Amino acid sequence: MDGGDGRGGVFLFLGPPGVGKGTQASIFSKARGLPHIATGDILRDAARRGTPPGREAKEQYMDRGNLVPDKIMLKIVNERIDRDDCDAGIVFDGFPRTRSQANYLDGALPNRGLRLERVLYLDAPEDVVVERLSKRRVCPSCRANYHLRHFPPRKEGVCDRCGTDLIWRDDDHPETVRERLKVYENETAELVQLYEERSLLFRVDASGGVEEIRAAIEAAG
Ligand code: AP5
Repeated sequence: MDGGDGRGGVFLFLGPPGVGKGTQASIFSKARGLPHIATGDILRDAARRGTPPGREAKEQYMDRGNLVPDKIMLKIVNERIDRDDCDAGIVFDGFPRTRSQANYLDGALPNRGLRLERVLYLDAPEDVVVERLSKRRVCPSCRANYHLRHFPPRKEGVCDRCGTDLIWRDDDHPETVRERLKVYENETAELVQLYEERSLLFRVDASGGVEEIRAAIEAAG
């Protein structure tokens, strides 16, 4: 896929924690045949492997609901987008989250023959996102994502895909969720206006069902 001018198209999924960015970015990236780069997943993988930067990111920032510092994040993203699978375009999920991460993309994409195509901004009332997070369970092995009410696993507590025991993410506990929502408002929400001013933003009401939201995103082109 290209952005209409021969350059690979890049899509950003932006929105508060728990709104469904990961769920929709995964569907969208498969439909478009583009790599899905979820910075939260990359950090959790590094933490699980026990690398020093991964452990530091989890213990010092993620488990407290804070953002990982830009310096660490930009190094990770820079290495990831240098891989060949990004030549045709990218679906970012949870990146950028700060003004300086957005500035980084402005330089890094054209340098790699890529072009920011559209920003899918998913929004829903706070009670909806809190409910989604409090009942989310994830597979630490294959990353499958469940919801105790909407998408429960066939066997309680066990991943349908790979049989691993599901976990409740440390940062999905209520106190940390509240902090993540605050951090989103303080650090990330301003990006909505930034991309709106550039006519790149497409607003999606993410309070409905997965299929309804998917169709709204698809209609954005
Ligand atoms: P990250 O993993 O990116 O967390 P997040 O942005 O807070 O997003 P979530 O993964 O919590 O939610 P989501 O919107 O993807 O929703 P999901 O599809 O899972 O980041 C975690 C941490 O890493 C950050 O706090 C930060 O510390 C660090 N980090 C990451 N990126 C960073 C960056 N760029 N800079 C600095 N630090 C960074 O859905 C949620 C639940 O709802 C699931 O159970 C799902 O099954 C269910 N669901 C989804 N859609 C629907 C629907 N339509 N109806 C009903 N249920 C639904």
